[in-house]
Amino acid sequence: MAGKDKLFIFDTTLRDGEQSPGASMTREEKVRIAKALEKMRVDIIEAGFPAASTGDFESVRAVARAVQDSTVCGLARAKDVDIDRAGEALKEANSARIHTFLATSPIHMQYKLKMSPDEVLTQAVAAVKRARQWTDNVEFSPEDAGRSELDFLCRVIEAVIDAGARTINIPDTVGYNIPQQFGELMRNLIERVPNSDKAVFSVHCHNDLGVAVANSLAAVLNGARQVECTINGLGERAGNAALEEIVMAVRTRQDVFPCDTTLDTTQIVPCSRLVSSITGFPVQPNKAIVGANAFAHESGIHQDGVLKHRDTYEIMRAQDVGWSENRIVLGKHSGRNAFRTRLKDLGIEFTAEEELNEAFSRFKELADKKHEIFDEDLQALVSEATMAM
Ligand code: KIV
Ligand code: ZN
Repeated sequence: MAGKDKLFIFDTTLRDGEQSPGASMTREEKVRIAKALEKMRVDIIEAGFPAASTGDFESVRAVARAVQDSTVCGLARAKDVDIDRAGEALKEANSARIHTFLATSPIHMQYKLKMSPDEVLTQAVAAVKRARQWTDNVEFSPEDAGRSELDFLCRVIEAVIDAGARTINIPDTVGYNIPQQFGELMRNLIERVPNSDKAVFSVHCHNDLGVAVANSLAAVLNGARQVECTINGLGERAGNAALEEIVMAVRTRQDVFPCDTTLDTTQIVPCSRLVSSITGFPVQPNKAIVGANAFAHESGIHQDGVLKHRDTYEIMRAQDVGWSENRIVLGKHSGRNAFRTRLKDLGIEFTAEEELNEAFSRFKELADKKHEIFDEDLQALVSEATMAM
């Protein structure tokens, strides 16, 4: 990290993540997740949308009371009533941020807001000024920035920075952008907004086209220094950019990124499991970083390679993201080396090579019938093999 910029991680599992249909969480559950995020050293935790309901207000207040080391953030539309509700909910936070937003795309301004661009600009400025009465730490998002017109976006951003916003978040609200274009948008904004050096530029991507993480990384390569993301990529519709993928891409490819996070990555897997068990949203086995198979090697050639030298087929260490060990899955493609190593881990060592051969051929017979061979299967077949000798 020496000489590199800091990349701030803004986790919105408790706000945008909760907007996943069926993923609502109780206040106690939100506090448990917030404590896990704090332990992981997430910089900013967006705890909810206080004006949305009394329950959300109480949850944000409970998180604000429980968390000491991370900044706690509340979302607010660009309306006095929402901003004051967020300010109230965050009053007891050790470090608080108000995140206010207003749409800037032609389609949102015309059909949703029924406002002219000038009215939007005026309201955005007023909202930021109102939020500044509660805290110095104000973030503004031009909603649907990914489909907004560049000149207008620049005007709004310049004005809200002058009004006191210290983080400018660029959302791809509907997941419409693709990486090269989104990276260029971030670069253009930072270059063209005259006071851009007074704010941290942030990125917030949705995954409708499956490129939320790629878009976020493109934005980071083009100057963004905060990423908004969620555990397991939870979120509205197809979800948000996944925290674990962003953090590990940046950490693993320090040769490419001019910045790094200060997260304790060993908390990633425990956090992922906590969010999955609380929301009831399972993590797909082949999900990067946190899926059960993310570090599992099934092919015999891969297993043999990893056992000889881990870097042959692994770009990260399983322990670094919180797995206790890399999991070699024994199946029909597994070779003798993987088989022998697993048996050794189970405390089984053969004195004669014929015993190993016998056990290995029984293992292959079983593997043809059974997709995955568990430790209990191994114990049983080794007993049979030694009895048969
Ligand atoms: O996707 C979005 O635009 C949002 C904003 C509130 C930042 O979630
Ligand atoms: Zn969002």
